[in-house]
Amino acid sequence: MLSSQQETKLNEQMRLEFASAHLYLQMAAHFDAAGFPGFSAWMRDQAAEEQVHAMKFFDFILDRGGAVVLGSVDAPPARFGSPLEVFEAALDHERSVSASIDGLYEGADRATAAFLDWFATEQVEEEATVAQIVESLRLAGSSGPALLIMDRDLGADRPRSAPPGA
Ligand SMILES: [Fe+2]
Ligand SMILES: [Fe+2]
Repeated sequence: MLSSQQETKLNEQMRLEFASAHLYLQMAAHFDAAGFPGFSAWMRDQAAEEQVHAMKFFDFILDRGGAVVLGSVDAPPARFGSPLEVFEAALDHERSVSASIDGLYEGADRATAAFLDWFATEQVEEEATVAQIVESLRLAGSSGPALLIMDRDLGADRPRSAPPGA
């Protein structure tokens, strides 16, 4: 059984994962409109992954006899800048999510800590992936050909509408 304090914190993290999905979907829309279908497809996949993360919290709260409270999801910014700025914002976001996961360990019982370990590991991977993209975008600078090659590479093998978790 979850303490009420843990229940509240896990619900808040679930809300943050849904907000992440929302943010990345908004970024996907931005890239699609800006002529970067590959970056858009990458963001769509990312949004689907965040949805899966949110559902892991959803199920864990229920499995532990807690109450799921969805709450409201923060609206992402409607406008974004260059690809570099968008991915820098994504990296900042992932870092704040990692810090939030770390904070959940405080006062967590063993089962919750074990559940959180998957997310702690996942965050290392996500931060590294996005940091790598940011680094490549810095190198590409304002070179159109370099940006188009990156767009093609990031979008390779990603169908436009991947089913969640695919
Ligand atoms: Fe996540
Ligand atoms: Fe993430």
